[in-house]
Amino acid sequence: MYKVIAIFGTRPEAIKMAPVIQELKKHHHIETKIIVTAQHREMLDQVLEYFDIVPDYDLNIMKVNQTLVGVTTAIMQELEALLIQEKPNMILVHGDTTTAFTSAMTAYYHQISVAHVEAGLRTNNKYSPFPEEANRQLIGVLADLHFAPTNQAKQNLLEEGKPLETIIVTGNTSIDALMKTVNDDYRHPLIDSIRQKQRRMILLTAHRRENFGESMQNIFMATRDLVEAYDDIEVVFPVHLNPLIKQLAKQVLGDLSRVHLIPPLDVIDFHNFLGQSYLVLTDSGGIQEEAPSLGVPVLVMRDTTERPEGVEVGTLKLVGCHRETIVAETSRLLDDLELYKRMASASNPYGDGQASIRIVNKILESALSNQND
Ligand code: UD1
Ligand code: UDP
Repeated sequence: MYKVIAIFGTRPEAIKMAPVIQELKKHHHIETKIIVTAQHREMLDQVLEYFDIVPDYDLNIMKVNQTLVGVTTAIMQELEALLIQEKPNMILVHGDTTTAFTSAMTAYYHQISVAHVEAGLRTNNKYSPFPEEANRQLIGVLADLHFAPTNQAKQNLLEEGKPLETIIVTGNTSIDALMKTVNDDYRHPLIDSIRQKQRRMILLTAHRRENFGESMQNIFMATRDLVEAYDDIEVVFPVHLNPLIKQLAKQVLGDLSRVHLIPPLDVIDFHNFLGQSYLVLTDSGGIQEEAPSLGVPVLVMRDTTERPEGVEVGTLKLVGCHRETIVAETSRLLDDLELYKRMASASNPYGDGQASIRIVNKILESALSNQND
């Protein structure tokens, strides 16, 4: 039987791979297995639990303050033995994490076919985002099938010389996931209490490696300035579990009653917080895909984005990591209702929620042609 192994290890990969796994598991004439590297531990487990995914193998590699080389070597060593034992026809990886790149590389060394979900995103600046831009370009070199979320991503792959027949435009599987999680009736005590006080909720996330140090300090200082300047806002910040981020967030924002430093939210909570927030400040990649389909303006605290579609439709704006610019751009959105409405009414460029079906149809085709060979 044709065997496919999905390999992932972090929260965003799990959220966007889950709909593909659920779709794959409907087809009993292909064997689907799951390996998690657990590059993230708690943040991965939150997603596995929500989507009811039980891995066949868990490499459990996460270390506190892990390094990129540490993650890479730990995965390669553990994964190789499993790939030799399981002999899959194809592995599926997602996006741009070190788990995705390392898994693709290990599979390639064993001449196992690699299919890449969320292929073709590019900034063409290898240090922004770091190391994700290099990771996804390197996966692009190794992959046999490229599942591109948008036409722009397909174009990027064609410009790099990838054969047309290996690229399939699918939409982004994050939209498939959102369709399962977002509910208009969703309530949460924190949201209720902000609403009762007639305040606007700003959702904040920050975790990028290239922002560690001065840029992250700027992001948090800007948040402080905003809360001090506007008495009708409350900031909800589900803090990434990286100890460096936790420490700095507590140090700069810990004394403010209108800043809620909370643990990472479950995916269902986070998606609904996102849908119900007034605006989002983030350096995340995935949130740039989710917010446009929920009609929530996003100020992206980065200098580059691999998701230009959201900028083009007007939901996203790149604001960089300077304290004054973040404060000025957020203030404009808070003060100017017309501007706010324009950003909030833009349409979703990331697909129709059927990306997983398109991906699985292509995998079924590969299985069939393998059978006929
Ligand atoms: C990783 C990915 C990044 C992705 C992000 C999503 C790489 C190089 N980076 O970055 O592309 O955008 O995930 O969140 O692949 N930690 C915990 N528990 C957890 C998760 C993390 O304690 O559940 C702490 C650990 O101390 C860990 C640190 O966070 O060492 C950093 O985790 P790591 O996966 O290396 O980096 P992220 O910034 O999460
Ligand atoms: N997310 C979540 N809980 C949180 C914060 C984010 O479930 O507390 C989800 C979010 O909806 C998105 C994904 O995690 O699907 C994004 O993860 P992150 O920003 O860590 O990574 P990136 O997308 O930048 O790789």
